[in-house]
Amino acid sequence: MAYEAKPLPFNKQLIGISEKAIQIHHDKLYTGYVNKRNEIEEKLETVDRSSANATYSDYGELKREESFAANGVVLHEYYFSVLGGEGQPSGDLIAAIEANFGSYDKWLEDFKAAGTVARGWVVLAYDFNTGKLHNYLCDAHNHGGIWGAMPIIVLDMYEHAYFIDYGSDRKTYIEDYMKNLNWEKANELFATIKK
Ligand SMILES: [Fe+2]
Repeated sequence: MAYEAKPLPFNKQLIGISEKAIQIHHDKLYTGYVNKRNEIEEKLETVDRSSANATYSDYGELKREESFAANGVVLHEYYFSVLGGEGQPSGDLIAAIEANFGSYDKWLEDFKAAGTVARGWVVLAYDFNTGKLHNYLCDAHNHGGIWGAMPIIVLDMYEHAYFIDYGSDRKTYIEDYMKNLNWEKANELFATIKK
């Protein structure tokens, strides 16, 4: 059954990030990943597996782009899910951040630095492999993710996420992202993970 695009989970004007930018991001880019993921899954039903080849084959290209499209969908859903908040750090997640990083400020310093260098994503994740929170960096949807690490706070650093409103000013975009962060939602995700 085809995967369906999820609606934008908030209905308010964000600080700094324009409605136009969010609309293009959600309705065209994110929805485009959903459509491509469905197209790939449909083609995989009938593709010729007997000609699978490591250099080039229809099957090989579909499998490579499957992870790109699927992670493009998932990471955008996490990104949108933690926007639309008040940006006030709170809850058990803060206590865990302080325990894992030394302090909230130390975590934030690393998260912002990762945002400054990332070409794709920064993900605060709970890593089941280590039992700890960690900031991971992905330069593309399917490059850099750690299996067994559950995303909690996901920051989109692809240029499409900020260029319309900020040009090349990544720093201000990251600062505004933090002002729009929905800590209640992030705490919900963390509570689900802890179960
Ligand atoms: Fe994006």
